[in-house]
Amino acid sequence: MNHSAYVFDAYGTLFDVHAAVRRHAEAIGPDGQLLSEIWRAKQLEYSWVRTLMGSHRDFWQLTQDALDFAFRKVRSADPSLRQTLLDAYWRLDCYPEVPAVLKALKASGARIAILSNGSPAMLESAVRSAALDQVVDEVFSVEAIGRFKTDPLVYDLVTTAWRLYPQAVSFQSSNRWDVAGATKFGFRTVWINRSAQPDEYLDHAPALILPSLEGLLAPG
Ligand code: LAC
Repeated sequence: MNHSAYVFDAYGTLFDVHAAVRRHAEAIGPDGQLLSEIWRAKQLEYSWVRTLMGSHRDFWQLTQDALDFAFRKVRSADPSLRQTLLDAYWRLDCYPEVPAVLKALKASGARIAILSNGSPAMLESAVRSAALDQVVDEVFSVEAIGRFKTDPLVYDLVTTAWRLYPQAVSFQSSNRWDVAGATKFGFRTVWINRSAQPDEYLDHAPALILPSLEGLLAPG
């Protein structure tokens, strides 16, 4: 399955969104995981609702709004940690296999890109702090159009810029809803099911399901 263009979702797929809270787990206390899950769920909900109602704010603003809600909801967590967690979000860990897999795909001659809801500044910081800047050819941010995934115009950013048919792009995401949107658009999709979630959006199924990015390098 050789493709000439591999496009990756950022948050959850390359970068571990729960790394920020985990890094400060002790200071946050017993409800850290809950705080992190609400933070992520609200960040995504805001992205869908804002695109549907036509009231865009960039992903960094949504990330802050979502954390503020999470602190209001999880009373055991000290809201004075707000800035510490937001700072950590700019330097999230990437998943361990990410650098080697991206390098190997690039060495095979493929183009490598990120397509993300993230703002250009957030993505640049994440890519640099994970030392992926040498391997990623292009970073596509939805800020170019002011609409979030799963609007088809988001996926179209790649095919327009690279002058490719959608089926020439292999798109990887660990977010099943993002895989559904990308499949509907026409990308060849791979669901990176890192946390063994049950399948959904069955009418928009990925070409492949893998537990991590490593399977992209498998022969065949
Ligand atoms: C992104 C969100 C979906 O990176 O995590 O686009």
